Amino acid sequence: MLQPNDYPVSVQFDLSKLVFSPVLEKVERRVSDMAKHFHDKDAAQTLVTQGDKLLYEVLYHSFETSKSDMVMCLTRIFSGTVGDEYHMTKGHIHARDDQAEIYFCLQGEGYLLLQTLDGEFRAERWTAGTLSHIPPMWAHRTVNTGTNDLVFVSVFNLSAGYDYGVVEAKGFKKLVVEHDGQPTLTDNPRWNP
Ligand SMILES: [Fe+2]
Repeated sequence: MLQPNDYPVSVQFDLSKLVFSPVLEKVERRVSDMAKHFHDKDAAQTLVTQGDKLLYEVLYHSFETSKSDMVMCLTRIFSGTVGDEYHMTKGHIHARDDQAEIYFCLQGEGYLLLQTLDGEFRAERWTAGTLSHIPPMWAHRTVNTGTNDLVFVSVFNLSAGYDYGVVEAKGFKKLVVEHDGQPTLTDNPRWNP
């Protein structure tokens, strides 16, 4: 027998403003939340004392039923850098090793960084319209290298879970930095000290 939450649900996107309704939860990440992830710790600390700017926000809508637990997120990474490193998400690997995810870039440009526990690394170049499949067992982080907001939709199962520790320990193999005005991937010194 169907429970009240087993019926179809739709949310409406405003494609000109790139927002949807209703938003059930919102999370904001500022420099202070991300300071340990940027390689230029002095630049991060200075920005914290200068207003602690907002780096990105995530709007959530979950679709939990009696037998499933899908969720849709809209992430908006604001344009800019911390030191020479572009604004990026915290990054995580799914706690469950059998859980994939779909990301769909609606606006902006940047990279989706992916990495396995064995150190396989990929950087997927993103522009508006890029859809990426994140297979199980790949940590993932997104980076905004453009002058506009980078906005993307993600769809996954809540039970996938978040493990932030893997990324916090050493980061990804490559940093995405601004070099001579251009986005450039450079070796992360925490990987090869
Ligand atoms: Fe994920």
